[in-house]
Amino acid sequence: MTASDDTKHSEPVNMEVSVPEARVIKFLSSNTKAGESISEDSISIEGLSGREISSAVSWLEKKNIVEIRKEEIVSYTLSPEGDRFLRNGLPEENAYEIISGKGKISISELMKELGPKDGKIAIAQLAKFGIKPASGEITLSHDGKIMEQISRRKQFLKSISSEEVPDREMLEHFRKREDVIVERKRNIRFVSLMEVGRKLSLSEETMDSIGEITTEMLQTGSWRTKPFRRYDLNAPVERTFSATMHPITFLINKVRRIFLDMGFTEMDGHYVEYAGWNMDSLFIPQDHPAREMQDTFYLESEEKIPFEDEQVLDIFKRTHEKGFDGYTGWGYKWSPSIAKELLLRTHTTVSTIRYLYHNPTPPQAAFSVEKVFRHESVDWKHLAELHQIEGTYYARDANLSTLLWLMKEFYSRLGFTDLKFVPSYYPYTEPSLDVVVRINGKEMELGGSGVFRAEVTKPLGLKEPVVAWGLGLERLAMIYYGFEDIRDIYQSDIDWLRTFSLKY
Ligand code: PHE
Repeated sequence: MTASDDTKHSEPVNMEVSVPEARVIKFLSSNTKAGESISEDSISIEGLSGREISSAVSWLEKKNIVEIRKEEIVSYTLSPEGDRFLRNGLPEENAYEIISGKGKISISELMKELGPKDGKIAIAQLAKFGIKPASGEITLSHDGKIMEQISRRKQFLKSISSEEVPDREMLEHFRKREDVIVERKRNIRFVSLMEVGRKLSLSEETMDSIGEITTEMLQTGSWRTKPFRRYDLNAPVERTFSATMHPITFLINKVRRIFLDMGFTEMDGHYVEYAGWNMDSLFIPQDHPAREMQDTFYLESEEKIPFEDEQVLDIFKRTHEKGFDGYTGWGYKWSPSIAKELLLRTHTTVSTIRYLYHNPTPPQAAFSVEKVFRHESVDWKHLAELHQIEGTYYARDANLSTLLWLMKEFYSRLGFTDLKFVPSYYPYTEPSLDVVVRINGKEMELGGSGVFRAEVTKPLGLKEPVVAWGLGLERLAMIYYGFEDIRDIYQSDIDWLRTFSLKY
């Protein structure tokens, strides 16, 4: 609500007008007929910016000289995904092309050609045209109608940002599709000059009063000869926005501050890691399902970068094959080349274990808040790229109660005091616990934690127990700020970012 909305009728009519206001009145009286209104955007006055015009209009409304009517205008733009479709073709378009070249194609081949995401969309869209897969295959005969529909869709994506009235049918089609177009609503003000305004005689003096003193006026002394425009501290002005932080940056800093206050050291790490550190060091067997491509992003440049520490590979080999110090290993043939593969780290526990390997003297307390990557389908509580709040405490008195205390202390410093610990499983901890926060009758799973197994700590020369945790930052952001959908955190909507209020 602007200042003008709540004071509109309570203020006495004030007929004194400023120069910009007088000029807006002049513009309106010569460009509109009595009772006619025009959109604020179409008022153009030399020497006045849109912002000054807008402010003058608000003022005139307050003085009951103009009337404002607001209208909501809906416009559409392409989402990044829609933009990709425009550039690389719609999934159904690409599928249609691939299939019509060959006559038919198996679903798995189509998925391979288009990728799983576009493949799924293409199959769903083709099904709507009546082309349905039968026994794992899609067969196609040339159909002019489908081609026409597809090119209409393409045409629509092309013309979406233009001013023309969009193709209604296509608009409905894309509104129903997930994440292709973005709807934006804008309020446009329509202004009409009221009778009093038309009759107002604008004195030379008003038109000529000083609103702003210029250097020239000071130099020539001409400011002495004219009246000043009066200040009004209640003048409605456009909102200005000061620099602010992204809600996630803000929360990261807050989390860092808490761990630093608790005496923890900040660890750093790398987006790209060796599978050896990300997994083998944590006693995750090489045939573990989480290592598959469906869960993990691997880099193609594997083996080109020599592993940093061959000695450590020998430790992993020995531990996985035969065990260590009375502990039996997994008993399979361990492969060094799998350990040397490069990947985008799937968790920051990789930073923890590397840190402890390089800092084996207890006690150690370390944390990080960094990004991890998972080949995961995105939904309201899952992201493929997210931050983890990682931490570890390595000391003689590190045990399950220390871990529970640390979790409780950390979350209570953020205002969450109702925690639940659920028994869980990670290949590298025993026991393992998932941390759940209860808030307003709802529960939010925040991540995993546990006491490192001896197979992880002992081979690397760690002599005391180690507790560790890896907690989702974006999940925390959901409960901290009250997001219903985790994807809302990364909307790149500048208006939203400007007006978002951070919780200090
Ligand atoms: N690394 C686990 C994850 O990514 C979390 C975890 C960290 C579990 C440390 C136990 C100990 O989900």
